[in-house]
Amino acid sequence: MAERVADLIEARLGRSLAERGTASLAVSGGSTPAGLYRALSERPLDWSGIWAVPVDERWVPPGTTGSNETLIRSTLLRNRAANATFIGLWTRAASPADGLEEAERRLSVLHDPFDVVVLGMGTDGHTASWFPHCDGLERALSETGPRLAAIKAKPSGVTGDYLDRMTLTLGEIRKAKVIVLLTAGAEKRGALERISGAGSVQDMPVRAILGARPDLWVCWAP
Ligand code: 6PG
Repeated sequence: MAERVADLIEARLGRSLAERGTASLAVSGGSTPAGLYRALSERPLDWSGIWAVPVDERWVPPGTTGSNETLIRSTLLRNRAANATFIGLWTRAASPADGLEEAERRLSVLHDPFDVVVLGMGTDGHTASWFPHCDGLERALSETGPRLAAIKAKPSGVTGDYLDRMTLTLGEIRKAKVIVLLTAGAEKRGALERISGAGSVQDMPVRAILGARPDLWVCWAP
C-alpha cells in the first residue's frame, strides 16, 4: 500500500511541479502513514519546490513525544525529501486557540489548495483532529472561513494524552486535488464499514470527507 500510494502522490506532486513550479502536501501524524512517508522520501521529485504541512498537530513542542512535526521530520523530511520546505503548526502560544493567528499567518505563503492531503482514521471515526463531538468540531468542519481550527478532544483510547490540537478545516482539505485516506488492520476495516451506516458526521467526522469533490482514495491494507 505504501509503495502504491507513494506512486499516486509522486505523480500528483510531479504534475503540479511541472504546471506551476511548486506543489504542496499536507500529511497526518499517527503510525499508519510512516511507511508511506519513508517510501515517498526516496522519490526523485524536485523537493525544493514542495511545501509540507501537518494536517494537524498536538499541542506539544517539536522534539517531544507525540509531536506530529517530529514524526513527519523523522519519516518524510529525509533522503531526497529533506529539501522540502516544512511549515509547522505548533507555536509557543499556551493553547491551539491562542496559536491560530500565527499558524494562519505561516500558511498564508501557500496560495493554492493542497495538491495532496494524506489522512489517517481512528477506530472512532475521527480523521485529522476532528474527533467525535469534540469542542471546536463545528469550526473544524466549516467549509468556509479559516484554514485552521483549534479543538479539545474528549479523553479516549484514541486521543491518548493529546486533547488540545490544531487542525486543518474541512474547507481547506476538501479543496485538495487528491485526498488519500490511509487505513490498515481489521479494526479500521470495521470502522470503514460503519461509515456508510446510520449516524451523523459528528458521530464519525471522517464522513465529512466522503463527499469530497477531488480524487478521494480510500486505502485499506490488512
Ligand atoms: C494524529 C493524526 C490522526 C491519525 C489517526 C490515525 O494526530 O494522531 O493526525 O488523525 O491519522 O489517529 O492514527 P494511526 O495511524 O496511528 O492509527
